[in-house]
Amino acid sequence: MIKLNTIAKSYNSAPVLSGVTLEIPSNIIYGIIGKSGAGKSTLVRIMSLLESTDSGEIYFDDKRVDNLRGNALLERRRKLGMIFQNFNLFLSRNVYGNIAYPLEISGVDKAEIKGRVEELLELVGLSDKIESPISKLSGGQKQRVAIARALAVRPEILFCDEATSALDPQTTTSILTLIKNIQTQMNLTVVMITHQMEVVREICDFVSVLDEGEIVESGTVKDVFAFPRTKVAREFLGSIKPIDGDDILEIEPSLAHIYRLHFLGESTKKPVISEFIKQSPVNINILSGTIRTVGEVPIGELVVEMEGSAPNIEIAKRWLADRDVKMEALDA
Ligand SMILES: Nc1ncnc2c1ncn2[C@@H]1O[C@H](COP(=O)(O)OP(=O)(O)OP(=O)(O)O)[C@@H](O)[C@H]1O
Ligand SMILES: [Mg+2]
Repeated sequence: MIKLNTIAKSYNSAPVLSGVTLEIPSNIIYGIIGKSGAGKSTLVRIMSLLESTDSGEIYFDDKRVDNLRGNALLERRRKLGMIFQNFNLFLSRNVYGNIAYPLEISGVDKAEIKGRVEELLELVGLSDKIESPISKLSGGQKQRVAIARALAVRPEILFCDEATSALDPQTTTSILTLIKNIQTQMNLTVVMITHQMEVVREICDFVSVLDEGEIVESGTVKDVFAFPRTKVAREFLGSIKPIDGDDILEIEPSLAHIYRLHFLGESTKKPVISEFIKQSPVNINILSGTIRTVGEVPIGELVVEMEGSAPNIEIAKRWLADRDVKMEALDA
């Protein structure tokens, strides 16, 4: 588990991150999406301990890591893998030399390095390129080498900063599939920084939206796609592009009349909704619903689409409030 607690960072007194609080569970793929300049790369550099914070704390599995210095910091950093949009490979080294590099600086002996590099190349599907110079590889192949290099030290967390942004849609799909397979095989925690909603949709389990240095929305990918709460999330959904021939995408970007109704205690047991539908001045379409028991108290949630004039919606809201049902607009 990665925990960020009110992380703040400014450059030349201009705030870039203002109080980012986030929990990333282990063994999943967590997406962080945001527009250009939102602070994504800054956040990932801070999470991967490449850059210090102005304030706030970072914990890996409940151990504080942002205050590590010297050798302790180097040791911790070595256990983190990172890949970037522009691959950041050493052009002076061939494929073998790039993947061997982190093992060499960790003092692993030559024979073991050879075995490990061969194993990694097989994992990323590039065994036949072991001696290739980097300049002879395609973008997708370069990213595969970068992934192999990042995994060489058996990291627990892999940070990906726009890892597929420089690739065509088909290559993007193949790299995302590779990352997904590796994540499952190795029980990795993957943090995917991206500005592409299609990347989030393809492989992420959870997503947070970063906007102007703040997390404005977080949830499972399913929930955020179904009921985006913020304008910025809806804009991302609206701009989603099909990848690799994908043409079935039924996202309704305009959710102006979608509401979540919260029922608490007694109101969960009464036929409030059927009465409401019978007498209401607005048209109601039920989209989803759940009832959970928290402590001894049942809590119900119903997501509905309501069609009607603003005054009628207001009447509906008051009618529900009188019966202890809170109505929350999902397009705030
Ligand atoms: N080292 C730095 N020195 C000064 N300003 C910086 C530095 N790094 C980032 N910034 C500024 O912080 C803001 C956020 O930058 P950042 O690179 O984190 O955004 P991003 O969300 O990754 O954008 P993109 O999608 O374009 O990669 C920008 O205004 C940028 O100019
Ligand atoms: Mg960036």
